[in-house]
Amino acid sequence: MSTKVDEAHTDLLTASSEGIVTAGALLRAGKLVAFPTETVYGLGADATNGNAVAAIYAAKERPSFNPLIAHYPDTESAMRHGRFNEAAAKLAHAFWPGPLTLVVPKADKCPISELASAGLDSVALRVPQHPIARAVLQEAGIPVAAPSANRSGRVSPTTASHVMGDLDGRIAAILDGGDTHVGVESTIVACILERPILLRPGGITREALKDVLGFDVEAEEFDNHPGDSAPIAPGQLSSHYAPNAKVRLNASSVLPDEAALSFGAPLPGADIARAHFNLSAGGNLEEAAAQLFSALRQLDITGVDCIAVAPIPLSGLGEAINDRLFRAAAPRP
Ligand code: TXA
Ligand code: MG
Repeated sequence: MSTKVDEAHTDLLTASSEGIVTAGALLRAGKLVAFPTETVYGLGADATNGNAVAAIYAAKERPSFNPLIAHYPDTESAMRHGRFNEAAAKLAHAFWPGPLTLVVPKADKCPISELASAGLDSVALRVPQHPIARAVLQEAGIPVAAPSANRSGRVSPTTASHVMGDLDGRIAAILDGGDTHVGVESTIVACILERPILLRPGGITREALKDVLGFDVEAEEFDNHPGDSAPIAPGQLSSHYAPNAKVRLNASSVLPDEAALSFGAPLPGADIARAHFNLSAGGNLEEAAAQLFSALRQLDITGVDCIAVAPIPLSGLGEAINDRLFRAAAPRP
């Protein structure tokens, strides 16, 4: 794909009312604006404008046109663009605004561009909870397509400076909202057939989905085998969220020259590791999720060849954390 981009300079906007107004106007004008959500920073563009959406792929250097999530300021406006069956409506009312994306059949007059939905009959809709995200979406007055605001294949950004590092000079502006607090992307559930299907584990746990629906949401061919390239949602490549360093999972100790990523008690050998980051000394999965991408970036920046990662439980947000770590460890294309 062409790497030509038309922005020579990227503005860093503060999240003041002036910054929000500027961001909304840029989005309406078809420009690219990165903004914080509770999960990760999104790279936003007018979802109804095919040219604006195409610019997202160019700025990210995405190898293919994966379908994107359209973001809305409130549940009512999101529900107008899709057809919601009973399960979808229950999930929307329970978890929006919040870190859940629903894939539903397109509504009849859905204005989302074909490029944003990659020509599918379905759309991915999300109402983020972050107050700055909601303010920008309200101000823009259009659905905003937004993948994570990183270059394709890199670790997702959880601060404005991560976004600047990846996309400076390629997008019009970044709205600075500090650190994101969930830290892993939204959970994606497809409500197309009668039974909902988990397409991506994320900020809403499987247990929480079950509490609302009254039954378990099955994952579609969801497995964690590194090297298995079967997509779990169109565009979910198994090597994703990749730091430059290799990632060694379920380490029981740190080997010479490795960096260490601990959870709970420090990994044996962490004290003499090239670099060390503890996701949560107290073994708290919410804290670990919020720190994950930032930790991978910080360890990677030291230039180590390999990052040893402690085992992390699979319960609650641990499912999403393990999913992202397996992808970070997968062989690179
Ligand atoms: O937390 C998040 O969801 C973040 C923030 C910015 O909102 N966004 C994000 O977007 O993670 P992205 O583009 O990195 O991931 C979107 C995922 C892709 O894996 C894509 O395949 C899936 O959503 N997706 C989108 N539309 C779909 C559809 N119609 N059917 C199935 N999967 C779809
Ligand atoms: Mg992403």
